[in-house]
Amino acid sequence: MQIGIPAETRPGETRVAATPETIRKLAAGGFNKIVVQSGAGAGSSITDAEFVAAGAGIAASADEVYAGAELVLKVRGPEAGELAALRKDQILIALLAPYRAEGLQALAARGVTGFAMEWLPRISRAQSMDVLSSQANLAGYKAVMIGANTYGRMMPMMMTAAGTIKAARVVIMGVGVAGLQAIATAKRLGAMVEATDVRPDTKEQVESLGAKFIDIPLTEAEKELAKGQGGYARDMGDDYKKRQAALIAERIKQADIVITTALIPGRPAPVLVTEDMVKTMRPGSVIVDMAVEQGGNCPLSELDRIVVRHGVHLVGIANLPALVAADASALYARNLLNFLALMLDPKTGEFKLNREDEIIVGTLACIGGELARQ
Ligand code: NAI
Repeated sequence: MQIGIPAETRPGETRVAATPETIRKLAAGGFNKIVVQSGAGAGSSITDAEFVAAGAGIAASADEVYAGAELVLKVRGPEAGELAALRKDQILIALLAPYRAEGLQALAARGVTGFAMEWLPRISRAQSMDVLSSQANLAGYKAVMIGANTYGRMMPMMMTAAGTIKAARVVIMGVGVAGLQAIATAKRLGAMVEATDVRPDTKEQVESLGAKFIDIPLTEAEKELAKGQGGYARDMGDDYKKRQAALIAERIKQADIVITTALIPGRPAPVLVTEDMVKTMRPGSVIVDMAVEQGGNCPLSELDRIVVRHGVHLVGIANLPALVAADASALYARNLLNFLALMLDPKTGEFKLNREDEIIVGTLACIGGELARQ
């Protein structure tokens, strides 16, 4: 099977869907021919020569990669300009943004067999393929680093001959994969960390990292909702949101850095930090809104910008993994390699679509000109 790795075209996307390590594994046995677009690894500090040494061929253009490939590996789904290069029955594995139906329909119209990695089921067998987790983990770390950099004070407490510096107070909202890494990173930098989530089982995880959990009392009906679905949160309703806002407002007033990570799949991100809350924060404090691409957890944050509102720095950088591209690509590429192992025969390189496998069924987004899920 010929596998193609085009360069990413989305502005600011520095990652690449394969690395010399994964190419070496895919090429083992000589069953797969791998073609990488020249320069595809540049943003991740991988040279064409390294890809060649791993067993790949280099194509001068994206068109050349698409023309020969039966299977295309990408980070992002195709931009408008890339769609025309895709062919009927070509297999595409990427982050296809499947909750935006128009994008998927355009892909289906090309006759492509598309797998949306965002839809990977959250079961233990799929953990090594989970691109959302691998990338959110790095993003959580980078969010704290950018928060600390933007904040004009120190993170740890320091006792010096010239007096004492207070430790920064960091509040993390949403304790999923990114939030947990953000807690751990902020703790390592010496900050005082508090965190909250709708899912009550996160309390133990927060405390095990040495941070304080901001508990929002739940009614019996809310306890059911708060369990979430497939590892993801659900919308908790207005009553809960009011109680949460009242409690959170108090914590935010005291915070120096707030990192928000709250997401609900397929829905706009919940607003957790309102403009009124921002107004209560001290000048120079920082909000890093990791949900900015889904509308933001703070209505004042702006996509891919750092702005100052009411004296507070709002960081709205959406693609944080792209800022640690070499590591992000390494993990992403391994996730795809593990996913491919479900479908590529290691002895013959033959591709098999097993529609009984819940991981394959879960991620399949379009096939035979149609959407796989209606
Ligand atoms: P996510 O990125 O969808 O959301 C981030 C966090 O925001 C979640 O913890 C969610 O509960 C929280 N949130 C949503 N609405 C909120 C609100 N209104 N207020 C406060 N918090 C809110 O979630 P992520 O990080 O992708 O994963 C969530 C969980 O899924 C993980 O902690 C883990 O337990 C589980 N998981 C399981 C996997 C597996 O078994 N293969 C793989 C990855 C995650």
